[in-house]
Amino acid sequence: MNVAAIPLALYIHIPWCVRKCPYCDFNSHNAPDSLPQREYIDALIRDLDVDVPLAAGRTLQSIFFGGGTPSLFSPDNIARILDATHARMDFANDIEITLETNPGTVEYGPFADYRKASVNRISFGVQSFDDDALQRIGRIHNAAEAGRAVKMAQDAGLDNINVDLMYALPNQTLAGALADIDKAVALRTQHLSHYQLTLEPNTAFAANPPPLPDDDSAWDMQEACQTRLADAGLMQYEVSAYARDGARCRHNLNYWNFGDYLGIGAGAHAKYTTAEGDIRRRWKVRAPRGFLEHAGTPRGVGGDDAVVSERIAFEFMLNALRLNEGFDAGTFASRTGLTMADIEQTIATARERGLLDIEGDRIRASELGQRFLNDTIALFLPNPPNRRSAA
Ligand SMILES: C[S@@+](CC[C@H](N)C(=O)[O-])C[C@H]1O[C@@H](n2cnc3c(N)ncnc32)[C@H](O)[C@@H]1O
Ligand code: SF4
Repeated sequence: MNVAAIPLALYIHIPWCVRKCPYCDFNSHNAPDSLPQREYIDALIRDLDVDVPLAAGRTLQSIFFGGGTPSLFSPDNIARILDATHARMDFANDIEITLETNPGTVEYGPFADYRKASVNRISFGVQSFDDDALQRIGRIHNAAEAGRAVKMAQDAGLDNINVDLMYALPNQTLAGALADIDKAVALRTQHLSHYQLTLEPNTAFAANPPPLPDDDSAWDMQEACQTRLADAGLMQYEVSAYARDGARCRHNLNYWNFGDYLGIGAGAHAKYTTAEGDIRRRWKVRAPRGFLEHAGTPRGVGGDDAVVSERIAFEFMLNALRLNEGFDAGTFASRTGLTMADIEQTIATARERGLLDIEGDRIRASELGQRFLNDTIALFLPNPPNRRSAA
């Protein structure tokens, strides 16, 4: 395996929010009155020092500040961790650097300063442009504030912007989901992420579920929104991701193409390939206080496990089959160290059931396979669930 040829990204986790949303199971916590920004950046730098040797000699293609709410951190602090990273690792000339932003946390000034700090992509958690819907899902901002925040970023010269929307919201109708799309499209951003609201275990919504549209209604919303977005020039390229030409998210594409990534910060995950060609996953201690205390020491690493060889094909498919264009044989071989012969049988089964399409050396989920994506991917498990599928 030519490990140096596997693209490399860096994920940086900021674990605080103004207020925890009732549907969210991310590692995010209500921010204390005084956010320990300096201390946390110091801890991130110590954490990075532990991980840099995992990627010796390789060039970073993208950096993603995710959360939580990274926009709670000042541009100075974001600049400090970016400078520290650049001092330790090579950046691609056209590196993509994304900052996730809650529209309820921003003013004009910081966008220009984030940009000066080298951030060149902003991802806004808007969720909906309907004020009642926003209230029902516990957001801290209204629709007008979200629109203004996007405009401020655009006025500051940021020209690579994503808006996150969720659909199948409590009591939402198809017309409501489409109205959200129309308002997002009017902002003329380059990218849109469209997530079905899911009830995650251990969230306030799981304990006390709101009235959600059923699966068929959610599917109808997804299909109608996909068409509306395509009409506006935002083409679907992954289950939840839509982009104008040239604006696909490089960082997320690296996950979906089973590239390598380091992860620093509380609870951050990494996937990396060793010089010997072993694929490993590493994760950091999850609680912000524990991370502040232990980052940079062995106790800061929550765990580091090899991906067992029997599961590698499944883990690859878990990512690659989310992409509309699927994958090619070369990418499969170069990222997994396996050959197409290793999965030939499963591919044949999936094709017989109409779940996969093959065109040249590209393999992708068919329309049916996309609808029953979990069943399709499960066929690649070492012991697939009795080879039963929805087909
Ligand atoms: C880390 S958040 C984005 C930034 C910021 N924290 C915010 O919410 O404004 C990532 C995105 O995941 C999506 N998300 C979170 N929980 C979800 C859930 N239970 N179901 C579907 N999408 C969810 C939301 O669209 C959210 O914007
Ligand atoms: S959705 Fe975003 S703002 Fe809300 S709790 Fe999760 S990470 Fe925080």
